[in-house]
Amino acid sequence: MSSTGRGRFEDEVALVTGAAAGIGRATAERLAAEGAHVVVTDVDSEGGEETVELIEEKGENGEFRELDVTNAEAVEGVVETVADERGLDVLVNNAGIGYEARSVEETELSTRDRVIDVNCNGVWNGCRAALPIMKSQESGAVVNVASLGGMIGLPKQAAYTLTKGAVLNFTRTVAAECGPYGVRANAVCPGFIETSLGEAFFSQQEDPEKARRRMEAQYPLKRLGKPEEVADAIAYLASDEASYVTGHGLVLDGGYSMS
Ligand code: NAI
Repeated sequence: MSSTGRGRFEDEVALVTGAAAGIGRATAERLAAEGAHVVVTDVDSEGGEETVELIEEKGENGEFRELDVTNAEAVEGVVETVADERGLDVLVNNAGIGYEARSVEETELSTRDRVIDVNCNGVWNGCRAALPIMKSQESGAVVNVASLGGMIGLPKQAAYTLTKGAVLNFTRTVAAECGPYGVRANAVCPGFIETSLGEAFFSQQEDPEKARRRMEAQYPLKRLGKPEEVADAIAYLASDEASYVTGHGLVLDGGYSMS
């Protein structure tokens, strides 16, 4: 809640993609806790409904809509329906996937294309659908979930880093295009966050526990991040507190990239 006791998203509508788990779920819960009606979307309908239950258990407002972000027409349909029914103030393009660690030459082209489709085209599709609405109402905030991997090189993660670097720079372009209409676009660049996507990385290692400890040791804060910490940053960028912030990539990496 804000210092005034009212949530920062009172009477607002926020749509979050990939909100059945991890960072997306934490973000949906955070925005709802601050007053937003949250449209939880995901390909995972069971997880998505669970997110809505978590929101409603606290007396807050949410609804689930099944949505695959790679399907541009479906994204347009859901975004337009939500906007017609309730309006649209915040879009969080969070849905994203990782893949089994492989060098560039060992990565299957189909894997590369799938990662691009979800991580890049998904973000593009969300913006393509929401921006005309936000521009015409002359307000709105978009937050795209990029990654620390969009800022630095990560061996055996070429497809992932390719997409996250693209999301970061795409966000800057969107911000430049939309700024004159009073619409803001920002990105978050999380380091290693404790979600199923993060766990999948460790489970591929020979000794997952050792790999985790080694990873934690590399971070000046000596721990991995939590989804709620990313949700805090997303909520800030989506809120009026960030009214003069646009085209920014907010790094949440426990100090990794500066050390
Ligand atoms: P997660 O695997 O816990 O959640 C991702 C969600 O996206 C899942 O609910 C999944 O069903 C959904 N999803 C996957 N493909 C989809 C599609 N085509 N359409 C709609 N939904 C789809 O992962 P996590 O960690 O919460 O990831 C969220 C975002 O954060 C992703 O964009 C990821 O790349 C990014 N990120 C994650 C980091 C981490 O260490 N966990 C670090 C930096 C960025």
